[in-house]
Amino acid sequence: TYVVTEACIKCKYMDCVEVCPVDCFYEGENMLVINPNECIDCGVCEPECPAEAILPDTESGLEKWLELNASLSASWPNITVKGETPADADAFKGVDGKFEKFFS
Ligand code: SF4
Ligand code: F3S
Repeated sequence: TYVVTEACIKCKYMDCVEVCPVDCFYEGENMLVINPNECIDCGVCEPECPAEAILPDTESGLEKWLELNASLSASWPNITVKGETPADADAFKGVDGKFEKFFS
């Protein structure tokens, strides 16, 4: 599966949603997550994200994010159409420590 990571927080560009063939993105207030049970590993979302927030779970160190994508996608609503990107998204692009600061 692919997973959405910290770089998405407060950026939420949502370009990923438009390309996913199985509509497996789920929406929280500050970020999106992927349902790992639905993702077919096609990889098309990875290069679409301007924040480079989407990674394959074969990369090391993503255990925490895989767990979060799995648990949050079970309670967050499905999103299939790109919404409005936050006005300050670019200001949060590449910023460190977003999980501790903003994640709820
Ligand atoms: Fe959707 Fe493919 Fe990305 Fe999985 S890898 S979330 S199926 S676009
Ligand atoms: Fe987040 Fe990138 Fe999608 S910032 S909403 S994973 S396009």
